[in-house]
Amino acid sequence: MKTAITEMFGIEHPIIQGGMHFVGFAELAAAVSNAGGLGLITGLTQRTPADLANEIAKCRDMTDKPFGVNLTFLPAMVAPDYPGYVKAIIEGGVKAVETAGRNPQQVLPHLKDAGISVIHKCTSVRHALKAQSIGCDAVSVDGFECGGHPGEDEVPKMILLPRAADELDIPFVSSGGQADGRSLVASLAMGADGMNMGTRFIATKEAPVHQNVKDAIVAASELDTRLVMRSLRNTERVLTNDAVERLIVKEKELGDKLKFEDIVEEVAGVYPRIMLEGDMDAGAWSCGMVAGLIHDIPTCKELIDRIMAEADQIINQRLAKFQGSAVSA
Ligand SMILES: Cc1cc2nc3c(=O)[nH]c(=O)nc-3n(C[C@H](O)[C@H](O)[C@H](O)COP(=O)(O)O)c2cc1C
Repeated sequence: MKTAITEMFGIEHPIIQGGMHFVGFAELAAAVSNAGGLGLITGLTQRTPADLANEIAKCRDMTDKPFGVNLTFLPAMVAPDYPGYVKAIIEGGVKAVETAGRNPQQVLPHLKDAGISVIHKCTSVRHALKAQSIGCDAVSVDGFECGGHPGEDEVPKMILLPRAADELDIPFVSSGGQADGRSLVASLAMGADGMNMGTRFIATKEAPVHQNVKDAIVAASELDTRLVMRSLRNTERVLTNDAVERLIVKEKELGDKLKFEDIVEEVAGVYPRIMLEGDMDAGAWSCGMVAGLIHDIPTCKELIDRIMAEADQIINQRLAKFQGSAVSA
């Protein structure tokens, strides 16, 4: 399928694997890219720019297809060495970057000068317009149902996507809550040129995370995620577990007085324990409501081929049946 996004990134299918902390390693990025999508290494999971350079080199050994790097700008006690990470990306010859979180203006000129296409992930039309105005090539529009940080506006994708289509001049992909061919066709219908998936790609054979994480996603329903850290204006959608329920009790007790220090135990540094060691109650980890649509653990190629076959079936059979009926009704 050809769209503005496949053309921009030189990929076969309009499917992107969003950056994911302690999930987006070279193994997953290469598997997604080899399957015809755009795989992304998660920059800040690499402790230093030198580690990121190694991960990029490793990914290049695993695929000759385009892949990218995610650079996330979130509040942090110590700011990461962004100039160093950008240098590693440019010197590694990467041609696609997904930025996320705060405004990426500080890195944009360097990335653009190096001929890199930048897609900024955002959760509101106003942030998407800002990204367009500072020179991003595309945006990834993340709805309220998404795993990770859905922002503070609570706008679901059935509203957000057509709003984005009405306002934006640059292409966009839809993000959050997507798992199959239905998701892709619906995204295209609402004006997107492709889709970005996070949680769905964790439950794949190549995702280099503990089997417990994949099994937890398959076992979960759409009712099993919770929103945490709302009062800190750092809302995150996570899969419920003992640590999350404890965190929610603290949030209820402390209300607006809640400080980050009160919940450090439940949120700080927990990703390696969960993703690598499979300690599923170690803390809060991002997961989308889309878990309710995930019932298996295919390879990335099986998943992407299935999505494209389903999309083809929906467009050429299910929707084709309605052709002309709107005017002839
Ligand atoms: C475990 C996990 C970790 C994530 N980490 C990041 C991250 O470090 N940076 C980022 O920009 N997005 C991150 N995300 C968000 C994803 O890139 C993507 O936008 C989101 O998962 C889409 O929603 P979905 O999970 O419903 O598909 C993460 C998501 C998950 C599930």
